[in-house]
Amino acid sequence: MSQGNHHPASGGVRVAVVAGLRTPFLRSGTEFKDLSAVDLGALLVNELVARSGIPAKEFDGLVFGQVIPAPLSSLIGREVVLRTELPRTLAAHTTSRACATSIQAATEAADQIVLGHASAFVAGGAESLSDAPIFASRPLAQALVALSKAKRIPDKAKILGSLKLKDVTPVPPALKEPTTGLTMGESAQKMAFENGISRSAQDEFALKSHRKAAEAWKSGRFADEVMTVVVPPRFQAMAREDNNVRADTTLEALAQLKPVFDRRYGTITAGNSSPLTDGAAAVILMSEEKARSLGIRPLGFIRAYAYAATDPGDQLLQGPAYAAPVALDRAGLRLSDMDLVEMHEAFAAQVLSNLQAFASRKFAEERLGRPEPLGEVDPARLNVNGGSIPLGHPFGATGARMITQALRELGRRKGAHALLTVCAAGGLGAAVVLDGPEA
Ligand SMILES: CC(C)(COP(=O)(O)OP(=O)(O)OC[C@H]1O[C@@H](n2cnc3c(N)ncnc32)[C@H](O)[C@@H]1OP(=O)(O)O)[C@@H](O)C(=O)NCCC(=O)NCCS
Repeated sequence: MSQGNHHPASGGVRVAVVAGLRTPFLRSGTEFKDLSAVDLGALLVNELVARSGIPAKEFDGLVFGQVIPAPLSSLIGREVVLRTELPRTLAAHTTSRACATSIQAATEAADQIVLGHASAFVAGGAESLSDAPIFASRPLAQALVALSKAKRIPDKAKILGSLKLKDVTPVPPALKEPTTGLTMGESAQKMAFENGISRSAQDEFALKSHRKAAEAWKSGRFADEVMTVVVPPRFQAMAREDNNVRADTTLEALAQLKPVFDRRYGTITAGNSSPLTDGAAAVILMSEEKARSLGIRPLGFIRAYAYAATDPGDQLLQGPAYAAPVALDRAGLRLSDMDLVEMHEAFAAQVLSNLQAFASRKFAEERLGRPEPLGEVDPARLNVNGGSIPLGHPFGATGARMITQALRELGRRKGAHALLTVCAAGGLGAAVVLDGPEA
């Protein structure tokens, strides 16, 4: 065990990531369309625990998240436990931090381990955007409640008669910021305009990410971190790989796509955005001591983390530029020490905006109150196996996907450190500094 690398607040306990797995990430409405987030989470956790070889009795807890909650199974953490081979007595809970949800799950589990309340935890998340809740309008919801109370048929008829056609139209969930009324895409488009991120820069970024993801699949780099799913309930279809990665995308094809969030002047298209996705991902965390006592070689370690926020009305998805410097300070490291940077790709415009802020002295001085910018990210170290644009983005699962992907790559490169960032609704940003297995 290497001494001196612990974050001072960890009381000497080092949190190891000992395993990580995800389902293939599938575009919503495809092979996983009949599965709920709980279904996806349960089949993933069962496989993760079985593959790890860790006896189920060793676990002290499970934390899981789903960003768009299912109204009838809001406690996904506990539901996942009850649908797996884990003991039914295992305490579990649900957590949320929008797109950083499974980062939140992992850091909550890490905290429990550092506090000495637990020594082994499952942490992850799942999302089924195929199964997003459809809401009743307020007048319809009120009428349904009144209807359940009305005893006489004429009263019931009167309630039903009061409804207008628009009241009975279902209301789909919107990825809108409640405080600004803007969708994620509109907020990212605003950032592209304000930061001067061109359409061609976005398309080039998306193209490279697709190529890297396609290459990672082709060369087998994802084989051990993505499970094959024989899709219930019919068990006929088989999902082996992510189905949004396009090895054959070209700049010309990307340039043809119409802007979606500002149809007239916009630059954000289906090609340079992350798609709506279904999937699940999780990691197993342990105290280093326990991992060693069980003879497990960790994939790596959670060294430090930080969360931050910016005003949603400002630049909604700029959170990583606020969180990353704090996480690096807590880790006692600098951006230049990072062998890898994994940045969640909600939109190419958001990644390019974050990178611009990382490198900007003005941003550092005015927004962070720091004399020096964080620095330039070396493109050769950024999202080297592709990011959420090609791989997809099941909101609750992305963070856990990134932890595993980063640590396994650090292991292959014999690298020491990775910085991982996620932007999220509400102007939130998450950043984690990971140590490789050799660090
Ligand atoms: C951007 C978005 C609206 C696009 O949705 P969509 O229109 O259903 O997307 P599609 O997959 O149908 O793509 C539209 C077209 O672009 C094409 N396309 C998409 N990516 C492409 C690529 N890389 N290369 C070439 N063509 C591509 C598709 O083939 C499709 O063409 P078609 O109409 O001829 O079939 C949707 O993915 C979205 O809302 N994403 C953002 C999600 C979000 O807000 N996440 C939160 C961020 S944290």
